[in-house]
Amino acid sequence: MRQTKLDDFLELEEQNKELEKLVAVEVEKNRQKDKIMFHQNKMASMGEMLNNIAHQWRQPLMELSSLFIPIQARLDYDLELDKKELKESIVKLNDITKYMSNTIDDFRDFFATSKEKEEFKLSEQINASLNIISSSLKANNIMLEIIIKKNPTLVGYKNEYTQVLINIINNAKDILIQRKIKEPKIKIIVSETKKDVLISIEDNAGGVNVKPVENIFKPFFTYEKIGGTGIGLFMSKLIIENNMNGRLWVENTKEGALFKIITPKN
Ligand SMILES: Nc1ncnc2c1ncn2[C@@H]1O[C@H](COP(=O)(O)OP(=O)(O)O)[C@@H](O)[C@H]1O
Ligand SMILES: [Mg+2]
Repeated sequence: MRQTKLDDFLELEEQNKELEKLVAVEVEKNRQKDKIMFHQNKMASMGEMLNNIAHQWRQPLMELSSLFIPIQARLDYDLELDKKELKESIVKLNDITKYMSNTIDDFRDFFATSKEKEEFKLSEQINASLNIISSSLKANNIMLEIIIKKNPTLVGYKNEYTQVLINIINNAKDILIQRKIKEPKIKIIVSETKKDVLISIEDNAGGVNVKPVENIFKPFFTYEKIGGTGIGLFMSKLIIENNMNGRLWVENTKEGALFKIITPKN
């Protein structure tokens, strides 16, 4: 009797081990899948990014090329060069090239995968997102309002956080354009409580036309969008909820969609 029980037990133990192995394999498979989606999301953004860089650089390039026209004219006509004017032009030149260089840095940061969690200021990541998309918002006459009540520090992968902000703002932009909204607007509000950091992003495009609204966070779920992949919000939720212990959700307001991200302070 005793012996059988032990045998049963050993058998069970064996089965458990097998099961554990199977689970480990499945978990690993899922991890790989998530990795691929992560990559796809970045690649999908890449085309749009290049477009954004082009936008972002057009203006400063124009300014650069016109900066020295009067100086060249003076040289051509052998006229005296005004030292003060020349100096001002050089200062402007420095400002413009600095701006262009910052744009490139932001893009490079965005595409670099951060290896370790680090502390970052929320406002800096908002700025990085805006450096990447503000020109295309401007080009589409989308008004952006930002209210930062506090400038909290977060801990996590900052590029991923930027990616989330960009996903949400880009979605709002897409819908505002696609629905041809008059006076399109995006409003970003940052606040904090003792324990959490809250950022809300609201547009006035009329809201999410899907029921229940949570469906938009499912992988490959895309609705009414031309060329949608349905990866962006799924990835965003994964980043906030799995990597930062936070929560990302959406509500419809009178104006449009309101996305909220809550992350705990440390
Ligand atoms: N600001 C928004 N207003 C209304 N619907 C939205 C908004 N943002 C996202 N959605 C809906 O959520 C869906 C999923 O978004 P996302 O995961 O980024 O995929 P994609 O943008 O490729 O369609 C969109 O197709 C759209 O139907
Ligand atoms: Mg999207």
